[in-house]
Amino acid sequence: MTKILFLDQSGKPGGAELCLIDIAKPYRDSCLVGLFADGTFKQLLEDRQIPVQVLASKTIEVRKESSLVKGLSSLGQLIPLINRVATLSRNYDLIYANTQKALVVGAIASFLSRRPLVYHLHDILSLDHFSATNRRIAVTLANRAALVIANSQASQEAFIAAGGRKDIVEFVYNGFDLAVYQQLSAATTIKQQLGIDKSKFLVGHFSRLSPWKGQHILIEALTNCPENVTALLVGDALFGEQEYVQQLHAQVADLKLEDRVKFLGFRDDVTSLMAACDLVTHTSTVAEPFGRVIVEAMLCGTPTIATQAGGAQELVTSGQTGWLVAPGNATELAAAINECIDRPKQSAIMASAAKLQATQRFDVAAIDRQIAQLLSQVVIKKQT
Ligand code: UDP
Ligand code: GLC
Repeated sequence: MTKILFLDQSGKPGGAELCLIDIAKPYRDSCLVGLFADGTFKQLLEDRQIPVQVLASKTIEVRKESSLVKGLSSLGQLIPLINRVATLSRNYDLIYANTQKALVVGAIASFLSRRPLVYHLHDILSLDHFSATNRRIAVTLANRAALVIANSQASQEAFIAAGGRKDIVEFVYNGFDLAVYQQLSAATTIKQQLGIDKSKFLVGHFSRLSPWKGQHILIEALTNCPENVTALLVGDALFGEQEYVQQLHAQVADLKLEDRVKFLGFRDDVTSLMAACDLVTHTSTVAEPFGRVIVEAMLCGTPTIATQAGGAQELVTSGQTGWLVAPGNATELAAAINECIDRPKQSAIMASAAKLQATQRFDVAAIDRQIAQLLSQVVIKKQT
């Protein structure tokens, strides 16, 4: 079994971290996950018996969208961490960086310890998401890797367009444990637990609260939907976006939607909640690199609306397995919600087609095999 030192900068479980859990699980007897911050992600790994250590003694700023330049300018502070990773990595076959700051540390440590570097790219390296300088640094370091695993074709294409090496990048989608979706609680029970009348048409939104995730677009869309349409906002500000949270609450108050918008905060029972929704919306205002929530909603058999950009377009075929609407457009979103309400039979047919397709495309067992094959090639190449 390949011995892997995984690195991730975050102490909190965003999509990249939840994906890493599934990737590390098959290697739990021979791997270590090194984190740069303490937090609930560590607990999730421990609960699954995946060895984990917090490697940074000082907190490194882990705001996802924060500047790599800032990260590099404080390289001095990173030196103890880099040395620690370099020393640790000598006991492993490869270093697997799962986030951008993990890439910075992993790339230098890999140079020092002569262990091959794998980078899992969970981002679209476009100017919507990153400054030109950040992008250049990320691509320069990633080009030193033996393998870059992009989480979608969109992320792969953006990497190449930004100067990334074509010969080292492969795309592999996130995988999902299908068993989880075979034992969902009844929708009425969940609605009851949430104190939501069963006559309400429940639209769920499951994402960290962050401006580009576009929760404000759903709130705005509600004003063009029938009165019984109620929105469930599930998720919290994971990476310091408190100002946006306040804006969302103010928007709800301004539009007098207090009875129609429920903020649930971060939940670890997303699947049951999604299954209880009549519809799930994904509203990212810029290209979503992959979009785990879209696949999860499809696997729950809940009709899904996503925005037409980035990886989301690889997940949903509009009119067949869900709806794709223009990013940032509340009017189009409202029209799609209303269509879903007005044509329940068509929505149910699309949701079943989506569930079947997602079951075939995103089984974690198949995706783990794909990753295992790619990683063993890296190790073999290094040995020859
Ligand atoms: N999620 C969760 N609890 C919440 C909100 C979200 O567990 O309250 C999960 C969600 O089910 C999904 C992940 O967080 O698996 C978010 O991943 P996604 O790829 O959709 O977006 P990201 O936040 O990584 O950009
Ligand atoms: C990142 C991306 C998200 C993706 C996740 C898992 O957090 O923002 O789109 O689904 O990684 O790859």
